[in-house]
Amino acid sequence: MTSNCGLYLHIPFCLSKCVYCDFVSFSGRENAFSDYAEAVAREAAYYKEKCKDKFFDTVYFGGGTPSVLPSLLLQKIVFALRKDFNILPDAEWSMEVNPATVDDEKAEVLKDLGFNRISIGMQSTNDDTLRFLRRAHCKSQFEETVKLFFEKGITNLNADFILGLPDQTKDEVVFTANYLFDLGVKHISAYALKVEKGTPLSKMVRENKVNLPDDDFTCDLYDEFRKAALKKGFERYEVSNFAQKGYECRHNLNCWQYREYLGLGLNAHSFIFGKRFHNIQNLDQYISRWMSEKNSVSTSRRLSKDEQKTEFVMLGLRLEKGFSVSEYDNLFNEEFYQKNQDIINRLQQQKLIIYDGEFIRIHPEKFYILNSIITEFII
Ligand SMILES: C[S@@+](CC[C@H](N)C(=O)[O-])C[C@H]1O[C@@H](n2cnc3c(N)ncnc32)[C@H](O)[C@@H]1O
Ligand code: SF4
Repeated sequence: MTSNCGLYLHIPFCLSKCVYCDFVSFSGRENAFSDYAEAVAREAAYYKEKCKDKFFDTVYFGGGTPSVLPSLLLQKIVFALRKDFNILPDAEWSMEVNPATVDDEKAEVLKDLGFNRISIGMQSTNDDTLRFLRRAHCKSQFEETVKLFFEKGITNLNADFILGLPDQTKDEVVFTANYLFDLGVKHISAYALKVEKGTPLSKMVRENKVNLPDDDFTCDLYDEFRKAALKKGFERYEVSNFAQKGYECRHNLNCWQYREYLGLGLNAHSFIFGKRFHNIQNLDQYISRWMSEKNSVSTSRRLSKDEQKTEFVMLGLRLEKGFSVSEYDNLFNEEFYQKNQDIINRLQQQKLIIYDGEFIRIHPEKFYILNSIITEFII
């Protein structure tokens, strides 16, 4: 593969844990911040030589809550990345932040470090819901965070929003689309709530202590939200992602378009050097491995050609524009249309997909059955 790559940094710390979240992140581990930054810097140095011919056009700090790290440690990590990797001058630099972790000084530092895209965890516009979710902020703090970044000149802002929350109404999701537009937010990630095993939310569900909307109603909420967002000029470019023109997240687009990325940090996943691999999940072990100059990869796998083809199609179909058939043909040296003509024609007749001679994409109204359409193409 010759195209540019993405760089992902996992920062596994949060102010507090939200009831629904099973991401690899911890609260109350401030004592590990400094060693963690050192470990990540060492991991970056380890990949320096291996990546000397790679060019990175996106850098994504995700988590957890990267903005919880003190400015000096963020600076240390950013300097290490700039030293060890060929990061293009016009690269997209994104960071996920929680509104409760950003003040004027932090916003200024992020700007100075070169971050040009900020993804803010909003989740809901309802303060009662935010309290229930054990979010560390309220709606007005979210607004202040948006304004702060605007003041610093960072206008490429995303808000994460969750659909299917307790007592969420259609009016509320329409309000949210309009509210985010009015605030000047350029990108919205709208995720359907997933009840993850082992979270406080799943315990509440088991014990009938919370009433969640059923799947049909969550689909209705998604549709209402989508219509309201489109009306305001957001375009859906991926199942859960809506952006104003030119504000699509380049980092995520790269992953869906099957470009390479290197992930550094706890539990980080990578797809590069012809392999998929990921790091261990235990924080203390991750740190101690790098402190003794040992690699932190837990599993690594070279994908077969068939697995690669399936992944290419599965990831591409998540995008509104779908996947390029000629790119597939070039990458895998075969003719996708000729090989899948019957399925393509049948799915077209059923109005489930659209094939325009170059791209194959899901019919815009059929995204709610995306997974079952994808299974038709499993190679
Ligand atoms: C790493 S967090 C974003 C930044 C920051 N940690 C925060 O929450 O403010 C990634 C996003 O994943 C989404 N998310 C996490 N767990 C989820 C779940 N169980 N169901 C739906 N969305 C979830 C949330 O919208 C969250 O903002
Ligand atoms: S949603 Fe964000 S802030 Fe909440 S626990 Fe997960 S990573 Fe941390």
